[in-house]
Amino acid sequence: MRTVYLNGQFVAEDAAQVSIFDRGLLFADAVYEVCSVIDGRIIDYAAHMMRLERSLAEMTIDYDCSAADWPGILATLIERNGLTEGTIYMQISRGAADRDFLFPAPGTPATVFAFTQARSLVANPMAERGMRIITRPDRRWGRRDIKTVQLLYASMMKMEARAAGVDDVWLVEGDVITEGSSQNACIITPQGHLVTRDLGHHILPGVTRLSLIDIARESGITVEERPFTIAEAQGAAEAFVTSASMFVMPVVEIDGLSVGDGRPGVETMALRKAYIDHARAQG
Ligand code: PDD
Repeated sequence: MRTVYLNGQFVAEDAAQVSIFDRGLLFADAVYEVCSVIDGRIIDYAAHMMRLERSLAEMTIDYDCSAADWPGILATLIERNGLTEGTIYMQISRGAADRDFLFPAPGTPATVFAFTQARSLVANPMAERGMRIITRPDRRWGRRDIKTVQLLYASMMKMEARAAGVDDVWLVEGDVITEGSSQNACIITPQGHLVTRDLGHHILPGVTRLSLIDIARESGITVEERPFTIAEAQGAAEAFVTSASMFVMPVVEIDGLSVGDGRPGVETMALRKAYIDHARAQG
């Protein structure tokens, strides 16, 4: 049984309980982060904490990340659960208060928890075969840059992908791709440029996306942060997604059409390796 963290304490997972009045439950009034762990070490920790602080500020959730020893909490979770590879999930809600659309009075304590999930990330078999995806309208709310737990639409889209016999969904506004259901979407153009959607309220500013842009630029690849259409992606040389749990994952089919030769792209796989090397190089 896992040991999880809840409101300042490490407890067995079946002993961790939150109020039915928690605003995370009633209003999805909570933010979260998912960090990957390789060789027992957290990847891109500082960037995840920065985004968590930004999400809290945008939601005006009164919780100071420096009030708790987060590096210590995460290290304890890794150690107590013997986690060598997988993810750590952290969530902070506005706390529990009698149901009211209005935010509770200042001083209501936030509900804070974290848990580990052991899974194989580096040797993911999907990296060898590549993902097949379909596109669907992006019907999420308009502040996708805030990492809230309001994930029902993403969850429904993943079920649609499963029903369609494919791996995931890319969300589109008109014919322009915003991002994957839980990853940022990227393509490599026939000229060899890496294209990914520019930041704004329409997508989550992915931590992996950010690291990968740096890695790509350092290796001499031109990066264009701009909108791109379904047709451009289908006609691209390569396509892939980025996320904390998938790193860089090749996409080989979009709405039934093969991307490139229908196999994981050479550039994509080189970027995947470079990202994993970057992750392993972190102390
Ligand atoms: N999802 N876009 C969306 C909508 C996401 O939910 C995620 C992450 C990303 C990629 O961000 P990052 O590189 O920081 O993981 C982009 C996480 C992994 C999840 O919800 O499980």
